[in-house]
Amino acid sequence: MSANSMRDAPKLNDRQAGSANGASAVRASDRQSGPIPGHGPDQDGAADEARSRNARIIAIANQKGGVGKTTTAINLGTALAATGKQVLIIDLDPQGNASTGLGIPRANRGKGSYQLIHGEATVQDVTLPSTVPGLWLTPSAVDLSGAEVELVTAPRREYYLRTAIRKAPPDVDYVLIDCPPALGLLTLNALVAADAVLVPLQCEFYALEGLSHLMRTIERVKKAYNPSLEMQGMVLTMYDRRNNLSDLVAQDVREHFGAQVFTTVIPRNVRVSEAPSHGKPVLLYDVNCAGSKAYIHLAGELLKRDSRVPA
Ligand SMILES: Nc1ncnc2c1ncn2[C@@H]1O[C@H](COP(=O)(O)OP(=O)(O)OP(=O)(O)O)[C@@H](O)[C@H]1O
Ligand SMILES: [Mg+2]
Repeated sequence: MSANSMRDAPKLNDRQAGSANGASAVRASDRQSGPIPGHGPDQDGAADEARSRNARIIAIANQKGGVGKTTTAINLGTALAATGKQVLIIDLDPQGNASTGLGIPRANRGKGSYQLIHGEATVQDVTLPSTVPGLWLTPSAVDLSGAEVELVTAPRREYYLRTAIRKAPPDVDYVLIDCPPALGLLTLNALVAADAVLVPLQCEFYALEGLSHLMRTIERVKKAYNPSLEMQGMVLTMYDRRNNLSDLVAQDVREHFGAQVFTTVIPRNVRVSEAPSHGKPVLLYDVNCAGSKAYIHLAGELLKRDSRVPA
């Protein structure tokens, strides 16, 4: 869908509020129409109630590859949407895995996070509906890899995403930013734009490797660019109960980081790994599998931890 055709589509006044009882609100057939609700200049028809939303922006980051960042963005996003929250996932990885995993073919991606970060388009211009009611996506394409290079010499190069989001904030409850596996300028932009950072940690021998570098980077971002950045928490992923090592790693991480670690653990589950090849979150692919249940649980825990939401 092009940006223009999105703008021509009917405005989404009756936002799709899911039921509060989890995955029952997730229906693949309910593809939404119309642009993401927002505060942007072309959204002046939005209801007053809509204007009161103040999105919590969470960067999902870990420079280690393959630890479950994208899987967590897609499935935590889906589970939050299933509780009735409006959620936007910004795919900030040139690999575009979040876009693929949500079933958006490359040919349909059009403008995306590259244009957003460069200030060439607002979030509303570059956001597509997903098959999940209440879940939206700003896709990415390989052009995003150029942004890393182009930003190097730009003034205030860490602030581009923050500026773009603040210019026309999306009218959602949560923005989840799926970061690439690097601590380059894209991830820095995500950390500077975010209210909080969520770190997936794979339950394997090297889980803690590189984590001190990530924590130092977060501290540096707090000191230099974004003092209010919070730690949303660490999520243990791909936990295998048949493997003692998973337990040892989980214990080790909890000893080091205590309450910062979510109680919910995401198990290694083949349904979770199959779902992206069907272009679906696992909650749509198999709502009863252990992976879906874990992400529903994680969403519940995150909502409870979030001080703005009463427990
Ligand atoms: N709980 C799980 N059970 C089984 N497989 C999983 C699980 N979580 C993630 N995977 C699989 O592990 C691989 C890596 O996951 P994912 O793409 O989410 O990691 P990532 O951190 O986003 O990777 P990258 O750093 O490349 O962006 C994928 O093939 C995914 O399907
Ligand atoms: Mg990824």
